[in-house]
Amino acid sequence: MKENIPNHVAIIMDGNGRWATKRGKKRTAGHLEGSKTMEKLAIHAIKRGVKVLSVYAFSTDNFKRSEEEVNYLMNLFIKMFKSKMKIFDKEGIRVIFSGRKHPLRDDVIDAMEYISSNTKNNKNGILNICLNYGGQEEIVDASKRIINDVSNGILSIDDLNKDSFYKYLYQDLDPIDLLIRTSGEYRVSNFMLYQMSYAEFYFTDTLFPDFLESEFDKAIDSFQKRNRKFGNVITK
Ligand code: IPE
Ligand code: IPE
Ligand code: MG
Repeated sequence: MKENIPNHVAIIMDGNGRWATKRGKKRTAGHLEGSKTMEKLAIHAIKRGVKVLSVYAFSTDNFKRSEEEVNYLMNLFIKMFKSKMKIFDKEGIRVIFSGRKHPLRDDVIDAMEYISSNTKNNKNGILNICLNYGGQEEIVDASKRIINDVSNGILSIDDLNKDSFYKYLYQDLDPIDLLIRTSGEYRVSNFMLYQMSYAEFYFTDTLFPDFLESEFDKAIDSFQKRNRKFGNVITK
């Protein structure tokens, strides 16, 4: 059944560290488990008819963490993008990225480029991986590109509106319909601020590594019961 499936779902994948600590493991073990969950969810979400799944993999502020944790995550990204390319490709998933390149390592950028270029013709759905991503940074970066285009005569100020603004974001995607945050935190932590203007929010105490397909389906069920109004007066 595909009716009323959210077109764009975004997930703040939180709670990896706590998942590991609770089991007496190092925080990095939680990141490894979380990466497996992310792969399963991407395949599942696209199979359910979601067209875009945005996942918050690493924020610009996550560079504040220990060098050991940051390095582990960067190496995990490289491993994942290289080893999972074929699986995502087989599922018809196009992998794209949002975020700043600087100060990512060259080998991380190469792995990102590897998976995105090898899946670029896929049509079933998009996995948008937000890596070294910040929502305020994205709006600032977009503003700079807009100012550039205006100064170079490529864009007329009158043609800038809330829809054309999307073209200046890291990726030109539809607005978010459903935003999920795991691990019992009730904040957006600088995620996709522009795109979430009318998103429905779904919060769960489940820690991200345990947020498997059936938990995702619960979020979809909840979304399907919502009454979206977009400022209008609508009764269901
Ligand atoms: C989310 O899990 C993954 C990243 C931010 C990279 P955390 O690492 O934030 O896990 P907690 O919040 O410390 O449990
Ligand atoms: C948000 O989680 C970033 C990612 C999930 C990648 P954080 O764990 O970094 O957010 P805060 O620090 O709790 O707000
Ligand atoms: Mg966290």
